[in-house]
Amino acid sequence: MKKALKLGLLAMLVFALAVALVGCGGSEPAKEPAQEQAADPGASKLIVGSDTTFAPFEFADAATGKYIGFDVDLIEALCEEAGYELVFQSMSFDGLIPALQTSQIDAAISAMTITDKRKEVVNFSDTYYKSGLIVAVQAKNEDIKGFDELKGKKIAVQSGTTGAMEAEKVPEAKITYFTNTDQALLELKNGAVDAVINDYPVSAYFVQQGNEDVKLVGDILSAEEYGIAVPKDKPEVLEKLNGALKTLKENGKYAEIYKKWFGEEPK
Ligand code: ARG
Repeated sequence: MKKALKLGLLAMLVFALAVALVGCGGSEPAKEPAQEQAADPGASKLIVGSDTTFAPFEFADAATGKYIGFDVDLIEALCEEAGYELVFQSMSFDGLIPALQTSQIDAAISAMTITDKRKEVVNFSDTYYKSGLIVAVQAKNEDIKGFDELKGKKIAVQSGTTGAMEAEKVPEAKITYFTNTDQALLELKNGAVDAVINDYPVSAYFVQQGNEDVKLVGDILSAEEYGIAVPKDKPEVLEKLNGALKTLKENGKYAEIYKKWFGEEPK
């Protein structure tokens, strides 16, 4: 009797789910099925979040609007190698970790530094890029020569980044937080702030892209390593991405992508 009841309920549930799925329409990324398929490497989708305002790692191509960059090429190659169908999702940087924690996304590739604090709530893949922080100021600025001269200055940063954490250590600094790094750098160009603390390769790329009114000063602060973040409860995703990364490093594909974006051999 009880068993029949259970079966009946199950049948109703399956029917309701089917109706809901059909009702969803085709174009929406169906998140639930993507996660259910995760056990099947042949067909499973991998929803990957990224803050796409961080050239040359992830940004929209000015001509086509398509997302491009080192991280974009890398995650495409990794998914191909690991047998995932990539679903790339642009979102704000400080929303990535919460999205991982609530399983809205399966991974995040966003020039994200592997830190002990983040490791408490998400897992990280093996390192795929070595980075560090740098101070950017207006080219005409003569008094800020690096991190030591930032005391009491107006500093712009991107929310939730290691650059923001570094700015918070500066005595009496007046910090302005932006959703995008681009906005922080523009604020500097406009002279509304004295400095930006950000990842070296990104600020260097910004200067190279015709922003000669901005310069980088001082030494690169503290070695940072980027990793792909994965929810704690998806060890199989982590394992597959690490396996694929190892393969791409061995077969030259990683070096090829690295050279394409940085013009040199991987460090
Ligand atoms: N590496 C820095 C961090 O992990 C900044 C990363 C920002 N990435 C981005 N796509 N906006 O905090």
